[in-house]
Amino acid sequence: MTSESTTPADSRVAVAFCCLGNICRSPMAEAVMRHVAKDMEMSHVVSEIDSFGTSGFHSGDSPDRRTVQTCLANGVPVNHTSRRVRPSDFEKFDYIFAMDRENLEDLKYMQPRGSKAKVMLFGVYSEDARLDKIVSDPYYGGPDGFQRNFRQLDHFARTFLKRIAAGTA
Ligand code: 4NP
Repeated sequence: MTSESTTPADSRVAVAFCCLGNICRSPMAEAVMRHVAKDMEMSHVVSEIDSFGTSGFHSGDSPDRRTVQTCLANGVPVNHTSRRVRPSDFEKFDYIFAMDRENLEDLKYMQPRGSKAKVMLFGVYSEDARLDKIVSDPYYGGPDGFQRNFRQLDHFARTFLKRIAAGTA
């Protein structure tokens, strides 16, 4: 049996999500991961969930209202303050998930040599060919972009946690 009290601290994973502005996609990803971990009764497996942006354009801002609305419409609360990625994040987190290829390239460029974080597209955790692996920037589009992002993030989070449980993440 696995429970909070029997999960060794060193087997837990710390995960973070990264987009450009840290007001649309990555705070949504953070909220979805927290929700999905609870839903799958795996909260004890994840020691930390956070998000940040490659830019500091919106540092200090709350999530975009469209992110908040989309999450709430899907039963997921959002609570975050935007910040830029820091060098220490690459040592703090086991996984840093980029939303798109530009985020991924920027993160890889910023990653201090030898730091522990595995930096990858979150979309590598897709098992549904109908879902794009890229979580596209929804900022200048309509609400459908946010809902599409939500469906992707929910699926990727479930696949990631399933693979963590199986030891194949
Ligand atoms: P995010 O979306 O990277 O998903 O938070 C964006 C938010 C703001 C801007 C671009 C993308 N912006 O240009 O201000």
